[in-house]
Amino acid sequence: MAKSTNAFTCTACGASHKKWAGRCDACGAWNTIVEEAPLSQGPGRGLGAHKGRAVPLSSLATSEAPPPRHLSGMDELDRVLGGGLVPGSAVLIGGDPGIGKSTLLLQGAAAFARRGLNAVYISGEEASAQVRMRAQRLGLADAPVRLGAETNLRDILTTLDTERPDLAIIDSVQTLWSDQVEAAPGSVAQVRAAAHELVTFAKRKGVAIFLVGHVTKDGQIAGPRVVEHMVDTVIYFEGERGHQFRILRSVKNRFGPADEIGVFEMTGSGLAEVANPSALFLSERGQPVPGSAVFAGIEGTRPVLTEVQALVAPSTLASPRRTVVGLDSGRVSTILAVLEARCGIPFAGLDVFLNVAGGMRVNEPAADLAIAGALLSAREDSALPPEAVLFGEISLSGALRPVAQAENRLKEAQKLGFSQAILPDSQKVEGAGGMSIQRIADLTGFAGEVFGAG
Ligand SMILES: Nc1ncnc2c1ncn2[C@@H]1O[C@H](COP(=O)(O)OP(=O)(O)O)[C@@H](O)[C@H]1O
Ligand SMILES: [Mg+2]
Ligand SMILES: [Zn+2]
Repeated sequence: MAKSTNAFTCTACGASHKKWAGRCDACGAWNTIVEEAPLSQGPGRGLGAHKGRAVPLSSLATSEAPPPRHLSGMDELDRVLGGGLVPGSAVLIGGDPGIGKSTLLLQGAAAFARRGLNAVYISGEEASAQVRMRAQRLGLADAPVRLGAETNLRDILTTLDTERPDLAIIDSVQTLWSDQVEAAPGSVAQVRAAAHELVTFAKRKGVAIFLVGHVTKDGQIAGPRVVEHMVDTVIYFEGERGHQFRILRSVKNRFGPADEIGVFEMTGSGLAEVANPSALFLSERGQPVPGSAVFAGIEGTRPVLTEVQALVAPSTLASPRRTVVGLDSGRVSTILAVLEARCGIPFAGLDVFLNVAGGMRVNEPAADLAIAGALLSAREDSALPPEAVLFGEISLSGALRPVAQAENRLKEAQKLGFSQAILPDSQKVEGAGGMSIQRIADLTGFAGEVFGAG
């Protein structure tokens, strides 16, 4: 039997490697590569070893309507699922330990169950009594969710096959083990095998499955990324330590838009939905301060305003600090380079701290202008007009490029009491809805007109 050559796997991203290395060159994580027992290649596994069964093929035409989606009534959850739960779909919910995944899914299961769905919650991490205590604290003790505590994959599949629930929650995929796989629970091989079997079961039997996956920091336990490709929908539950709110974000969805977000607040009695996230993210704003810029963003199908905050201070370091939280640091470096090269505004010798207020994460290129605005405002020690929002993409030439959904951004800004928008010259706006608009051609113009800099 030929020895498998790819016996090393990254537990963070699942990439295969021919030999061990300290750093995974696929995802950049350190100390995440572990040796895995190669998949069995015994007789009968290879192609041609035995004759396969002919799979029945069918046409593309269908007379069936798509299956109805189930709504939980938790709007923030339903939206991130793409407009409710698709029967027989497999959903992965990843997130840091302690962020609130079990809480969210217990609340979700209870909400679906109260609307008549047959919901089963299998906990591999906590004893049933602990889950019951949580249910009591959340005021869900009377919800018709059925609870099991088990980690044996075979037993879980048998249970689900007998019960045939509409939806099953498996908390977490890292605790499951299959006797068919010779590896420890939590290893890449076990996590993949368990996820694969559960996803296959979901499709065959029409049972929607939620898999919980902890994001892991060390290489001992496989992270949720190793099963992302198997499931229909990948959702991450995020939040900053010390902040009350949590963001549910779909990063992949076969049944709806990706990048949709749902916003929750962690309270003593569980996760409360936040229907108007912009108001929450901006609630800490007071007097106009240098270094602050309000970005009118779009998350999925929904406009969300966030505040980009910058602090710029003389550095004593040979290579000054660039500390970026909640924004893409590569993007920030590019904007700093454009400011320096195209506008002649250097940040050399200056430490730069940049973050999004409240722990929100912003990935849109449309945030470029707000990032530049916060940086310039901090550097020039001059506040932007407090009634203004910004959006626009910055190209390497320093030109500003238009972005999608300008009207929705403006509408949300106006709803929250803003009266002015700074945006690219080339941006088409069909109806500004009473907002006063300041058009900017390029970054040099922005620095000059708004800050008198450059
Ligand atoms: N008794 C409690 N009172 C208030 N909040 C609690 C209580 N127990 C847990 N929590 C909150 O719930 C969080 C844990 O959520 P949990 O759903 O178990 O996270 P995960 O499943 O992602 O590890 C804790 O970080 C804490 O904020
Ligand atoms: Mg948990
Ligand atoms: Zn990796």
